Amino acid sequence: MKNFLIVANWKMQLSYTKAAAYARELANVLGQDASKSSIVICPSYDSLSIVKEIINQSNLQLGAQDCSCHIAGAYTGQVQAQSLADIGCSYCIIGHSEMRKTGQTNEQIAQKAHNLLTVGITPIVCVGETKQGSSFPDEILQQLDPLFALPFQSTERLVVAYEPVWAIGTGLVPPAHHIEQVLIHITNHVSRLDKKLTVQLIYGGSVDEKTVALLSNLPHLTGLLIGGASLDSQKFKNIVRSCITNHL
Ligand code: PGA
Repeated sequence: MKNFLIVANWKMQLSYTKAAAYARELANVLGQDASKSSIVICPSYDSLSIVKEIINQSNLQLGAQDCSCHIAGAYTGQVQAQSLADIGCSYCIIGHSEMRKTGQTNEQIAQKAHNLLTVGITPIVCVGETKQGSSFPDEILQQLDPLFALPFQSTERLVVAYEPVWAIGTGLVPPAHHIEQVLIHITNHVSRLDKKLTVQLIYGGSVDEKTVALLSNLPHLTGLLIGGASLDSQKFKNIVRSCITNHL
């Protein structure tokens, strides 16, 4: 399997107690599959430590759903990238459209990426157009520009998740050729910048058991970000199985 990344974004769907119970269930259900793929579980902040404890003996990895753009200080309600590293997060989603809606700017999201890389966490930066339309929306370049202006080390890795806002939680998925086209545009853009880092491209937005076979075959796609369908262990297992079958 070519380092195919499967990220489960639990959003704020589970309480602390339910998140712990579901993490136990997933660790059992995914068992062997987890060793054949890179699966990242992203619970909300409150449940990170307990989920880490539960998945510690498995091959599942831990991710957070956001972090502060500040390193430390008087920022009520925010969470440091360093705390996420201390808890054992390997990944952190940033720039999710549900957070961009609260007013986060592209510059702040780039700063979050910088803070995460500094503490050894791989950022999963979400980008995507708000409305269905053009083949490669300018919005995506605007979202990426402050990010790629950062100084990167050659050993650093960044995940970019293409998530069209109109596809999130709606059951709508863009045609496979559109996704591939956007991923190619991002790849070309990154190579023109001549940056030293490694960029991994994944897709998110209404991924489920039915769409996964089609999506996981796209040449430029190396992972999936899954919301709703990651909250049902059987559905999630079927998605993981399908990815493993297509990428082994
Ligand atoms: P969805 O969510 O799979 O429920 O569309 C994806 C996401 O918001 O990351």
